[in-house]
Amino acid sequence: MSTTAKKLEQLRALKQEATASNPAKVAKRHDKGKYTARERVEKLLDPGTFRETDMFAKHRCTDFGMEKRRFYGDGVITGSGTIDGRLVYVFSQDFMQFGGSLGEVFAEKICKLMDTAMKNGAPVIGINDSGGARIQEGVVSLGGYAEIFFRNVMASGVVPQLSAIMGPCAGGAVYSPAMTDFTLMVKGTSHMFITGPEVIRSVTREEVTFEELGGAMTHNSQSGVAHLLANDEDQAFAQLRKLLSFLPSNNLEDPPRAPCDDPKDRREDELNTIIPDNPNVPYDMRDLIAQVVDHGEFFEVQAYWAQNLVIGFSRLHGHTVGIVGNQPAHLAGCLDVDASIKGGRFVRFCDAFNIPLITFVDVPGFLPGTAQEYNGIIRNGAKLLYAYCEANVPKLTVITRKAYGGAYDVMCSKHIRADFNVAWPTAEIAVMGAEGAVNIIFRKELAASDDPEEKRKELVDSYRDKFASPYIAAERGYVDDVIEPADTRPRLIEALEACANKREHRPAKKHGNIPL
Ligand code: HXC
Repeated sequence: MSTTAKKLEQLRALKQEATASNPAKVAKRHDKGKYTARERVEKLLDPGTFRETDMFAKHRCTDFGMEKRRFYGDGVITGSGTIDGRLVYVFSQDFMQFGGSLGEVFAEKICKLMDTAMKNGAPVIGINDSGGARIQEGVVSLGGYAEIFFRNVMASGVVPQLSAIMGPCAGGAVYSPAMTDFTLMVKGTSHMFITGPEVIRSVTREEVTFEELGGAMTHNSQSGVAHLLANDEDQAFAQLRKLLSFLPSNNLEDPPRAPCDDPKDRREDELNTIIPDNPNVPYDMRDLIAQVVDHGEFFEVQAYWAQNLVIGFSRLHGHTVGIVGNQPAHLAGCLDVDASIKGGRFVRFCDAFNIPLITFVDVPGFLPGTAQEYNGIIRNGAKLLYAYCEANVPKLTVITRKAYGGAYDVMCSKHIRADFNVAWPTAEIAVMGAEGAVNIIFRKELAASDDPEEKRKELVDSYRDKFASPYIAAERGYVDDVIEPADTRPRLIEALEACANKREHRPAKKHGNIPL
């Protein structure tokens, strides 16, 4: 055998060793509904496109007998590949090596990947499945985490960062996913928490299971930490691929344009009857959105948390848009602390990545009550307001029904620089609803009346006739037009295409001070 042939053979053998896994361990994972780290990468990416980097990396730790356990890859698989033909960078933590725990070399591999992704302007997808900081490497592991956290922040707003949680993710390790743009969790097999059930039991005597504390549904519905929920890993990869299809690869690109055979002039007569006659009867904002967007396709994000505000991605004549809509079917569509945080973060993501914002407004106001006030609705509501003011992507707003009080201003009103504001004839744009207004401004008349109930009804009707309409706002130019609901799709597409070259600058500054 020639020397070159021997070297080739050695290379093949090394690669074989570096990528091999113990079949018994693999079978155990499969039984738990989990793929291996390598299978995950292959399932996520376009077939055959994965190019691994740093396959031969090994840790340098010599404590606790670690010098005898030096495996290729050091517990994380890193590399690049494509999704729908577009370049992405991926790391996949390998629980089968040291429990996927993060040491110095493991961290170096992820950092190198993130640096390359930022340099080349492509998204980073992290698949997290790890016991956390590698105990044998001590503080070096903590340093490694911090190097990753720093890069998460540097990459924020430069390239999309997506996190899939597919196993444990505990302690400070949760802060890397938390600083990425979207976090996906898988039902039953992924967990995130700062301190686990045992520590909680010993410190607070509280009894809680892994699932209740940090399972996929907990973080999708209770805490708002997660944005997407998958029933299994296959669905998780499909969701990540779908999400990426809406996004540009970096902040200097526009989102990809999809081919579209849904006519841009499609009127939808059903929209003319979607608003119930009784203003207190709800409807589902998602039904309305589905009638307007291309083929009714709406990729909802954070669907289980703060359901009074609907957010997600869609397309209008092939153009990616970020949609924000009040949801009358939940808490009457009021804005509260959680909805404001949810909306604010989404608006900022869209603005960072050149995704136009479409806002559907049906909001009776901010949710009243001590719980909201004590939880800082003032500070938190301001986040959504701040985010909309700051955003200079195309901003298009449709008021379908209620737009009351401060919430009218917040929900991408003309005053905070929306580009296109229209109302449906069913819109009610005023400082507050008729009942509340009459109770305040006619208190004395009502008290003096012989028949206060009849008087109240009369005053409410008169207030509603005068103010609960879009025409006072239209008179002032606060809405550009009052449109037939059926025309919403064509009018939005025209307006969106008119904004294609929008340039609206903001004053130079180091950064603003969003009320966190
Ligand atoms: C080194 C670890 C490890 C760790 C797990 N392993 N976690 N090795 N450092 N942090 C190893 C185990 O020794 C074992 O090795 C293998 O991974 C599988 O672990 P098991 O315990 O057998 O698996 P399982 O029963 O599924 O339990 C998984 C687990 C548990 C819940 C994650 O391992 C666990 O509680 N680990 C410790 C978690 C933790 O406290 N990490 C530190 C958090 S603080 P062998 O060789 O036997 O297969 C933190 C700070 C980050 O991360 C700070 C950032 C700023």
